[in-house]
Amino acid sequence: MELDMTTMDLPKRHLLAAFLSMEPPQHLISLARKCGGGSITQDVQQFIWAHCINRTDAYAHEPYLKSVMKNLIREIESTGGSVMDEFYERYACYMVSVKEDGAEKADSWVVKCISFLFNDSPIKVLIPLRCSLNMLQGDTGCALWPSSLFLSEFILSFPEVFTRKTCFEVGSGVGLVGICLQHAKASQVILTDGDESTLANLKVNLEMNKVGNIDSKSVSGSSTVQCVHFPWESARESELQQFMPDIVLGADVIYDPSCIPHLVRVLTLLLQRDKTIDSKSHPTPQGLVSGGEKFGYKNDVCVESDKAKVEAATMEFFSQEMKSRPVALIASVIRNIDTFKCFLDTTSQANMVVRDLTDSIKVSNLIPYMESYKRSDVRLFMLSCVNK
Ligand SMILES: C[S@@+](CC[C@H](N)C(=O)[O-])C[C@H]1O[C@@H](n2cnc3c(N)ncnc32)[C@H](O)[C@@H]1O
Repeated sequence: MELDMTTMDLPKRHLLAAFLSMEPPQHLISLARKCGGGSITQDVQQFIWAHCINRTDAYAHEPYLKSVMKNLIREIESTGGSVMDEFYERYACYMVSVKEDGAEKADSWVVKCISFLFNDSPIKVLIPLRCSLNMLQGDTGCALWPSSLFLSEFILSFPEVFTRKTCFEVGSGVGLVGICLQHAKASQVILTDGDESTLANLKVNLEMNKVGNIDSKSVSGSSTVQCVHFPWESARESELQQFMPDIVLGADVIYDPSCIPHLVRVLTLLLQRDKTIDSKSHPTPQGLVSGGEKFGYKNDVCVESDKAKVEAATMEFFSQEMKSRPVALIASVIRNIDTFKCFLDTTSQANMVVRDLTDSIKVSNLIPYMESYKRSDVRLFMLSCVNK
């Protein structure tokens, strides 16, 4: 999808990006107010009309448009503003043609366009993703989860970490991480999921993003991106030996206690490939280990002059870590502390080190327009295996 935002000022670009990613209407209203210096002026309304509501592209989702219109009209009226006639007319049409929000929502599919166009994003992309509005669809894999937004920001903040690497993702869901890995020029991207309907939707998203050479059958071909049906419970060691990843990734995959032993077994098999590690040089695998050093920035502020240093230090850290063994990067929102403890215990028993890198690595805020996404809720863990 092409999008020319060059002539728009920044608040309007944020508003449009938020609209395209289908942010909840109350967040759009907050951004619209910012565009108008505190109120939704005629100028802002005209912008919304021209760029958001009166769209003709295939991604427009009428129930969402209806809900946006309803909230906008309510907001403008309640603050004593004058609503554009076009808003009333369009809303009246939706009242007749679009089913009630609740009934429509249950099994709706939408296309959310996630733009990485802000804050000096080193790779500027707009990624359309077919998602379900039902968070549970496809064993939760057809919705977009915050950890994959975070992991995508991480990949696009430090693309060199992934360049020319073989990357293997567990629980790929709608595929955002995989698409970012391809933009970061990973040499091989293996995307997996245990749910067949999620995998089918993932393939639609790869096609929509022109991520080529998808091969769901062969794992030994020349494909750069593969989709593999891969339930953790039935994964065999011989099957995993074919992959040999440098980096294993996972976003929001630690939530079901019954799956944790299987997930950890898969991670162990993928990560224990290199046997030449000196275990003494790594922390004892007793649960969570602090990430330690910050990579060249102070008090969470990364001034422009430090940016190159931070990137170089981060790159150096990862290249050292990956020199002798693969690592896994798992982004997670800790929703249930017992489930997370269970994950830590299981990794510890499997002789793995889990390091929390969240406070050590300064991931760029590449989706600043998405107010519903709470970056601070997501933690980033690095896992590696040590010899016994
Ligand atoms: C909460 S979703 C996260 C999806 C995506 N990573 C994201 O962050 O948007 C969890 C994903 O893990 C997959 N998953 C859950 N249990 C699994 C299992 N036992 N084997 C393989 N995949 C599994 C689900 O199908 C789903 O795609």
